Amino acid sequence: MILVIGATGLLGGEICRRLAATGRPIRALVRPTASETRVENLKALGVTLVQGDLKDRASLDAACQGTAAVITTASTTLSRQPGDSIQTVDLEGQVRLIDAAKTARVQQFIYVSFSHHIDVDCPLTTAKRTVEAHLKRSGLTYTILAPTFFMEVWLSPALGFDAGKGTAQIYGSGANKIGWISLRDVAQFAVDCLDNPAARNATIELGGPEALSPLEVVRCFEETGGRKFRVEHVPEETLNAQKAAAADPFQRTFAALMLSYAHGDSIDMRMTLQKFPISLLSVREYARRTVRA
Ligand SMILES: NC(=O)c1ccc[n+]([C@@H]2O[C@H](COP(=O)([O-])OP(=O)(O)OC[C@H]3O[C@@H](n4cnc5c(N)ncnc54)[C@H](OP(=O)(O)O)[C@@H]3O)[C@@H](O)[C@H]2O)c1
Repeated sequence: MILVIGATGLLGGEICRRLAATGRPIRALVRPTASETRVENLKALGVTLVQGDLKDRASLDAACQGTAAVITTASTTLSRQPGDSIQTVDLEGQVRLIDAAKTARVQQFIYVSFSHHIDVDCPLTTAKRTVEAHLKRSGLTYTILAPTFFMEVWLSPALGFDAGKGTAQIYGSGANKIGWISLRDVAQFAVDCLDNPAARNATIELGGPEALSPLEVVRCFEETGGRKFRVEHVPEETLNAQKAAAADPFQRTFAALMLSYAHGDSIDMRMTLQKFPISLLSVREYARRTVRA
């Protein structure tokens, strides 16, 4: 039995789809407030649902009972309920889950963190690094996946990159390269890490097949769609000012993530792909699919 935490999210949902395709039994921790459609999608995959919350240790103890592995993608950055914060969920909740997994003698714990080049100080970076350290010290067999920016999130209208309208908001100069990765490929890594000696007590940085600067990404979309983009830059000074003036930990975190994007994050995947032969989605192919949609 594989327990997935964050299964009603984008990445966790994709992990469940891929796990279900392998025929493995899956249990997902869901909350009563989760999107009905996403819960129905999990049921249709044959996932066993258990109610719980990362803030509730007893629910985590029950969920971990009899599971061979735990995969956790949960985060409050985009999906949160009253009482959820980076401190109570991304940090303390994940630490609580590790402790519950240890008590239940889970054989492998897979934690989705983010790239170690995303290092601008902010509450989410503190949470991710604290959880990683706690997991490494726990004695559990661990795998830490550290992906860089997801193309489906950062090259989407939600973050100001709108291929339909031909507009792009770029954080910083747009000259520094990023190894944009598809969240579907991150999901495949999570599945391929299960019971895999190459993933035993490993931290794996994840990027796409090629690092491209945001301006190169725009050019790629322009070539694919046959039309010019209107590009707006948010200068680093503006992002630094936003971070300094942030009213809460979420705003501070978003400004820090945008600053990390401005600094760039190129990841050499050659060694990792020797151990995990996954065919990674390129930005050009993603652009083709987005422009066609
Ligand atoms: N976006 C990027 O570019 C990027 C890059 C690198 C790493 N990552 C990491 O990737 C991971 C997955 O992201 P995603 O896009 O799948 O996020 P998402 O779609 O926002 O999903 C978040 C999930 O966490 C669950 N959750 C939130 N608070 C919870 C709580 N108190 N107890 C239990 N579950 C809770 C949510 O459940 P509900 O549905 O009930 O709210 C949801 O299932 C995150 O850890 C993120 O930091 C993202």
